[in-house]
Amino acid sequence: MTSKDFLLEINNLNVHYGELQALHEISLKIRRNSIVSIIGSNGAGKSTLLNTILGINKPTSGSILFLGDKIDGMQTNRIVAKGVSLSPEGSSIFQKMTVKENLLMGAYLPHNRVNTAAKLEKVYRLFPVLKEKAGQQASYLSGGQRQMLAIARAIMSEPKLLFCDEISLGLAPIIIQDIYSTIKEINEEGLTIVLVEQDVRRSLKYSHYSYVMLKGRIVLEGKSSELLEGDVQDAYFGLNKYINC
Ligand SMILES: Nc1ncnc2c1ncn2[C@@H]1O[C@H](COP(=O)(O)OP(=O)(O)OP(=O)(O)O)[C@@H](O)[C@H]1O
Ligand SMILES: [Mg+2]
Repeated sequence: MTSKDFLLEINNLNVHYGELQALHEISLKIRRNSIVSIIGSNGAGKSTLLNTILGINKPTSGSILFLGDKIDGMQTNRIVAKGVSLSPEGSSIFQKMTVKENLLMGAYLPHNRVNTAAKLEKVYRLFPVLKEKAGQQASYLSGGQRQMLAIARAIMSEPKLLFCDEISLGLAPIIIQDIYSTIKEINEEGLTIVLVEQDVRRSLKYSHYSYVMLKGRIVLEGKSSELLEGDVQDAYFGLNKYINC
């Protein structure tokens, strides 16, 4: 497989918070047009990894390549401009703005301030409830609607690679199901997606390939279908060692 099959390649990444080493020798690849999940329990280093890819944390060593270009050390807005977007943990949105204003904030970079009407229509098609609530203040949205807004806002920057940090946290199963179906639809339309989750079963079910993190390291990786169905017992014993299923 040539490197152009992969949108993102991370090699031997190490990240510290002061004295604490949060990531150890992380290496991973995200294949174009796939859904990849990064699974790990509390404190495993998932958000640290995402923040490092987005340029918010600076790595101590290692490299991050996006479309073959080195992005580690680059400023976040330049990384976003290249086509990387994040739906952050806790679906943080601008509470005092309307739903539509939040969405427009997703397309704030200069090259993105075009075709906003078409981009809005696209996210309204994916999440019809956001169209209904377009004029309402975002603070009145339910938890599930906030999560939808966070994902939709991330899509407004027309990314090539979308990271979703803990989209199922604190939501009812039926809402999670709904959001995941839309994630699948977005992927089928051509967007490469990375799901960062504590929910092992769901992440495996909805992704093509998975990485499992423990204490800042990748301890297991493989095709999600094989981890889920191939050798179920072994897979779950394997995963159970690292995380609560
Ligand atoms: N800003 C920070 N300063 C210092 N230490 C941090 C900081 N952010 C995270 N850490 C530490 O780094 C480690 C990894 O945390 P991180 O938030 O990346 O984990 P996570 O897998 O995203 O966890 P969660 O599932 O709870 O979101 C933890 O030990 C955490 O305490
Ligand atoms: Mg996290």
